[in-house]
Amino acid sequence: MKIKLHNKAISEISSDIEIVLLDETAYKLHQDFKTLQAAGFEANDDNICLLHESKKLFVGLKSYSSKSLRSALTTAVKTLKKTNYKSAKINAVSHKNIAAMTEGVILGGYSFNEYKSSIKKNKFAQVNISSNNLDFVKLQKNFNDALITAKATNFTRDLVNTTPQDLNPKIFAQIAHDLAKENNFTCNILDEADLENESMNAMLAVGRASINKSHLIHVSYKPENPKYVISLVGKGLTYDSGGLSLKPATSMVTMKLDKSGGCAVLGILKAASELELDIEIHGFIGAVENMIGGDAYKPDDILTSRSGTTIEVRNTDAEGRLVLADVLSYAQEKVDSDYLFDFATLTGACMVALGQYTTGVMGHSNSLKHIISKAAKDSGELVGTLPFNEHLEKLLKSEIADISNVASKPYGGAITAALFLDKFIKDEYKNKWLHFDIAGSAYTETPWDCNSYGGTGAGVRLMLKFLTTISEEN
Ligand code: BES
Ligand code: ZN
Ligand code: ZN
Repeated sequence: MKIKLHNKAISEISSDIEIVLLDETAYKLHQDFKTLQAAGFEANDDNICLLHESKKLFVGLKSYSSKSLRSALTTAVKTLKKTNYKSAKINAVSHKNIAAMTEGVILGGYSFNEYKSSIKKNKFAQVNISSNNLDFVKLQKNFNDALITAKATNFTRDLVNTTPQDLNPKIFAQIAHDLAKENNFTCNILDEADLENESMNAMLAVGRASINKSHLIHVSYKPENPKYVISLVGKGLTYDSGGLSLKPATSMVTMKLDKSGGCAVLGILKAASELELDIEIHGFIGAVENMIGGDAYKPDDILTSRSGTTIEVRNTDAEGRLVLADVLSYAQEKVDSDYLFDFATLTGACMVALGQYTTGVMGHSNSLKHIISKAAKDSGELVGTLPFNEHLEKLLKSEIADISNVASKPYGGAITAALFLDKFIKDEYKNKWLHFDIAGSAYTETPWDCNSYGGTGAGVRLMLKFLTTISEEN
């Protein structure tokens, strides 16, 4: 889907059809009110009416909020993709909301067709936005930034949607390498020999049964005189079969999504470098495949992690935390950062707690959780915080090792997983670290908001909003 911002009145833009947004007030005053009313149109989100003769697509708006506008543009684009129109035009609403409109078009217009042998090519391919007498320079800046963010989100979606045979840990490393080259940042790849030298035994154990060898990907974007240094850690399980604690057949389907955290980290680096943010960003991705085989790690094994903490494996399907334990320890030692965030499709329990649309945010610093929740809201992503407590922490006790990889009770699983990660966070990082459980929000089999079937790019928009906010503060 193409989108273009024009410094012209809408009447001067030629397009096949015009998208007209109507809230309750505008609807009542509109010259086509009677026709629209007869057609059952309502000025509410997701409501549409296409008047072919006047070449107008009316889209209802509950309010002029970013949320309503993003959803209205998604609805418009999805509707127009089913028609024979090739292009549409629309008026910009405000400087701020041009971002939501752009996202509605680019994110709402996304579909993944890589594996279809023949696809019916949509005729509809272009949205033209009129500046509508608003300050063009301001509008253009917000438009360009939103376009970079939305395209990076779609880049992340493409990676998540790619199948495990086409995106294994080695290919993941190659993709990171190519992206770094294209976007002028650096990429350092650690293979299994390097991981052994780094004593990353927990990560290595998870990948041992796979013919696809594990890789640690370290990408860094380093502008001159950065305001902050940020480390982002991503779970990059290119497939999670569960290992010997094998997943049931129906739960295994979609487990290509288990690399979503790592894919989000790459998407964030891509956008940050294109936005030329004055923030140094390091991405660390544990790219691993969790499989079964004669060489597989087992429940009952005890692993000595990179930090020296010993871990009793009681379930090989709780593999993400083992990989993250070592990658978090590596990240904290290699880079002295102001913030440390990890993104991981870590627990089914997070979906039970918050529903499948919401990212679970966990960590010690209430003020950081507050700032992140605000950034998420502004970005259009949904987050909910889940609280730590010492009683849940005790459930990770092991009789024979320092810690068990699963809790002894089945409740609060998203929190106990985060508390496991917390064991690998150094004291000086406790208040700089947040964990994002994107198990539900990273992937969907039913379209919602501006998300279509498959990867959603969860984490990308919210982290970029946080980064641009701290970059703009004095
Ligand atoms: N990758 C899964 C979590 C997951 C489940 C993500 C469903 C997305 C959708 C993770 O590795 C896992 O299997 N977690 C276990 C933990 C349990 C064994 C303590 C889970 O959630 O069941
Ligand atoms: Zn698992
Ligand atoms: Zn997993």
